[in-house]
Amino acid sequence: MKKNALCINVSLILVTALLYLSCNETSADNKAPITEKHELDQSELIARGKYIVSTSGCNDCHSPKIMTPQGPMIDSTKILSGHPQAEPLPPIDKNALKPGNWVLMMPDLTAAVGPWGVSYSANLSPDSTTGIGAWTEHDFIATMRTGRHLGHENGRHILPPMPWENLAQMEEQDLKAVFAYLKAIPPINNKVPTNLSPDEAAKMK
Ligand code: HEC
Repeated sequence: MKKNALCINVSLILVTALLYLSCNETSADNKAPITEKHELDQSELIARGKYIVSTSGCNDCHSPKIMTPQGPMIDSTKILSGHPQAEPLPPIDKNALKPGNWVLMMPDLTAAVGPWGVSYSANLSPDSTTGIGAWTEHDFIATMRTGRHLGHENGRHILPPMPWENLAQMEEQDLKAVFAYLKAIPPINNKVPTNLSPDEAAKMK
């Protein structure tokens, strides 16, 4: 009789332990994922924007560089200010303007030559006359989503090598974050030259 009671007790403990384990498993499954989304406040938006900009290669093309023995380094005094206005392009091999040839890039990647002509990376700093200082969040998101300047239906198509087709797929909150960060960096007055059509570029010396 005593032995039976002990058996029941032991099996009760086992059943309880199993129930406990299985309950625990279920609650672990129901845990919210770490990356659960929530509305970000302004400082969180800026931090996320900084993270996206520095990991998505915007600096590759939009920041002037200082040439060092280790290769080109971002010029931290000119961050995201686009192709430097005072920097003339070296002579262009005009073959690059015809399809089927090599395209050309400046060593700091802020200007490129191809069948589209010459394109200069834009000033993304918040300077009000030469950068995106006067842009609204709507202007920025519309530009990034449509690949047209300010997202206007008849706006100028944004030229290569700006990878807008990839960036257009960012989530709304991420584009807002990028814009918040760009608005928070120091404004740099740098009037990037206007792009040149292939015909205009062919006439360059
Ligand atoms: C491979 C080079 C490259 C990369 C990488 C790049 N861009 Fe650009 N971007 C350009 C060039 C070149 C232009 C100017 C194109 C033109 O004149 O039509 C441009 C134009 C733009 C414009 C349009 C400006 C205007 O006045 O209409 C915005 C906005 C922009 N880039 C944002 C970004 C952001 C944000 C990133 C990173 C997430 C980024 N770009 C990454 C090369 C690049």
